[in-house]
Amino acid sequence: MVDVILGLQWGDEGKGKIVDYFAKNYDLVARFQGGPNAGHTLYVQGKKIVLHQIPSGIFHQNIENIIGSGVVLDPVTLKKECKAVEDLGFDFRKNLFVSERTHLILPGHRALDKASELAKGMDKIGSTLKGIGPAYMDKTGRNGLRVGDLLRPDFRRKYDDLKSKHQRLLDGLQFAEDISAWESDFFESLELLLSLKIVSGEYFIHDRLQQGKRILAEGAQGSMLDVDFGTFPFVTSSNTVTAGVCTGLGISPQKIREVIGITKAYCTRVGSGPFPTELNDESGEYLRNKGNEFGSTTGRPRRCGWIDLVALRYACMLNGVNSIVMTKADILDELDELKVCHAYHIGGTETDRIPFQMADIELEPLYRSFKGWKKDISGISHFGDMPDEMRTYIAFLGDFIHAPVKYISNGPGREQIVSV
Ligand code: GDP
Ligand code: IMO
Ligand code: MG
Repeated sequence: MVDVILGLQWGDEGKGKIVDYFAKNYDLVARFQGGPNAGHTLYVQGKKIVLHQIPSGIFHQNIENIIGSGVVLDPVTLKKECKAVEDLGFDFRKNLFVSERTHLILPGHRALDKASELAKGMDKIGSTLKGIGPAYMDKTGRNGLRVGDLLRPDFRRKYDDLKSKHQRLLDGLQFAEDISAWESDFFESLELLLSLKIVSGEYFIHDRLQQGKRILAEGAQGSMLDVDFGTFPFVTSSNTVTAGVCTGLGISPQKIREVIGITKAYCTRVGSGPFPTELNDESGEYLRNKGNEFGSTTGRPRRCGWIDLVALRYACMLNGVNSIVMTKADILDELDELKVCHAYHIGGTETDRIPFQMADIELEPLYRSFKGWKKDISGISHFGDMPDEMRTYIAFLGDFIHAPVKYISNGPGREQIVSV
């Protein structure tokens, strides 16, 4: 059976920490989509580490980890990540596997990402500039190169053909930056990638399912960044929802058991695009500072706001969420009042549904207020010791989105999680 952990908002919900926490209950952790646009933060032996492509189960040496076929993989970033894991004393060669069908992010993809964002000007997506969009475009355009291609004699010829194609596109976008240094980094990094265990991802997973092993699928980004159902065009280029687990790993929907959705106790977004509950005032600034809301991958300040239950309920519907983990509850500790958005006011009408698009419409979030708990909860380890005001907050949340809050994370530390 396969359980899934994924983000329900616009990313950075705390997936890395939660996957690391639950990993001990599984035999295999599998990343199914995204790439180095992700930044999953974990604390291991008290040290902070940010993983981008390596699954967050890597610090459990008896658990296998696979970078699945639905991922777009940058070998340069992978090499750096492997080094960071090794520096903490963990042998990634033992328990890291890569699917041969995983598409590669090439230097031209990074250049095209940058060129495309520059060309869009004010309308830019605010991408992470890691080459995600162009790599997925080459996959669906049937031009991309995969990890398995590295083992074939015609790799270099195919690479050069694709490079010429990229160059023509870059010329059209008047992108003149010299990317030869990226290219030498790319070729240097291939040695490490080729030294890893490259497998047929779908059979690898199938064999383990046959053996009755437990698999945890780790999502990247969040449901509101899903290419089909997120706030298009301000989204990423993959399916971040549960359906992406099947296509990204090559498993059947019948194999999926539990879907665990992660939400912050408030909401953040990094990059451009609509964010109905964004706070452009001192409350937003407070959340950013107290929550240390700066991007794990790009360092950009994250936009902050109240929790949006319209978006959250939509995400639960898309994903078939069975249970919720609410993270960063401790960030709300000192607030007198907490707000939750339960509906939108659009063009004179109240709705609790996500509209076709939110970028160019007058949308006012409608709030319900809750009393803050005004208590430091970061040291609490039993739900019974949590303040009544928090119980009221999560009870309302769970009822509204039709999914129970089963865990509350009350600090970044590995053990700072309370079962409800
Ligand atoms: P991910 O991309 O979903 O894995 O999330 P990120 O790692 O990008 O961002 C989450 C940030 O919040 C990281 O810095 C975590 O260390 C931190 N974090 C996770 N859970 C909690 C929590 O319950 N409380 C606090 N204060 N920080 C948390
Ligand atoms: P994790 O896994 C937050 C955002 C970017 C941008 C949009 C498109 O750490 O939650 P892309 O580079 O994917 O083409 O950028 O998506 N974005 C993320 N925001 N967390 C992430 O990952 C993100 N990955 C991409 O900021 O708005
Ligand atoms: Mg992140």
